[in-house]
Amino acid sequence: MKITISVIKADIGSVGGHIAPSEKLLQTVKQYVVETGKGLLIDNYVSFTGDDIAILMTHTHGEGNEKVHKLAWDAFVTGTAVAKSQGLYGAGQDLLKDAFSGNVHGMGPAVAEMEFEERPGEPFLFFAADKTDPGAYNFPLYLAFADAMNTPGLMLSPKMAKGFKFVIMDVNHTEGDRVVELQAPEDMYDIATLLRDPERYVVESVWSRAAGTQAVSVATSRLHNIAGKYTGKDDPVMLVRSQMDFPATGEVLQPFAVGHFVAGGMRGSHNMPIMPVKLNTTISYFDGPPIVSCASFSIRNGKLTGPVDAFDHPFWDRVRDHVSDKAMEMRKQGFFGAAMLTMNELEYTGIIEKIASIDKKFALRTVQKAA
Ligand code: 13P
Ligand code: 13P
Ligand code: MG
Ligand code: MG
Repeated sequence: MKITISVIKADIGSVGGHIAPSEKLLQTVKQYVVETGKGLLIDNYVSFTGDDIAILMTHTHGEGNEKVHKLAWDAFVTGTAVAKSQGLYGAGQDLLKDAFSGNVHGMGPAVAEMEFEERPGEPFLFFAADKTDPGAYNFPLYLAFADAMNTPGLMLSPKMAKGFKFVIMDVNHTEGDRVVELQAPEDMYDIATLLRDPERYVVESVWSRAAGTQAVSVATSRLHNIAGKYTGKDDPVMLVRSQMDFPATGEVLQPFAVGHFVAGGMRGSHNMPIMPVKLNTTISYFDGPPIVSCASFSIRNGKLTGPVDAFDHPFWDRVRDHVSDKAMEMRKQGFFGAAMLTMNELEYTGIIEKIASIDKKFALRTVQKAA
């Protein structure tokens, strides 16, 4: 049976700053999806990660379906009214356009979708991150799908031996989708060359070369490209199908134990380590560290079983302690050097005007000529 999983997420307001949606807001969105989704959706799962609400939907209408996208958009619009009524911070923050037109791409919400023929056993992982951007997934995807040091399946499983195709997007290009397809293992160094710059080159999808089927879909939207100014971080979602032709779930999870440094944290302007957290975790310290959650599911005829919380295990408590240490270590150097993002990334904030006004005060020193 051909099934589509669509996950659409947005920040439509949060309690106490950029921390978490209110219970009433979450319930409003849930109720809207359940009631309005009757006859359109097979199943749904509504959750939050930090201040972002994600609506995961299963159906048979394919990717980019207008009715499915409109359902999510309208759920967020309905939720925004509640957020306003409660005085939540940033009510409607990610709804950047006034009227819905066709699908939510380019309107603010993040989208990851995949249509596939269900396998007899169909496990998938739903990742949601807050206080960071889509390049945050470059590192774990490279390790999980291209590096035998992380993924023994690349050596041990005949189904994985042909490697994986990476579709990588140049997210600086705003007039349409600029993408390149590269094959692991032959193009490993080209893949590495692009993925080392996660603010510009972002993995959009990954495909099994043996089976020709899709394993990964990442939401690649860049809010500052849509809004032309800083309106919050992109806070990406990702879908990963695991096992059989694809890496095992544990091979996909392992890279998150590193707590790699990503763009985000306070005012979306810092380099901070990303912390794998339990489902429905809020935000605290320095609007960071950035967090990522993982809900694991099985699916049959579009019906979801789960989620099982992939980062709710004693192992990850130790990782979280380690990431806290890394975060505090980086914060010790405040605004200096590597602690903050480059000017290129900050240019959507007020710092540009500040530099322009200071710039006027610069003067060229007249150097006296030697006699
Ligand atoms: P305000 O300037 O609206 O307080 O927003 C800043 C902010 O919360 C970004 O982190
Ligand atoms: P969000 O993108 O999660 O709203 O965060 C905004 C921010 O700047 C936090 O400091
Ligand atoms: Mg917010
Ligand atoms: Mg957020």
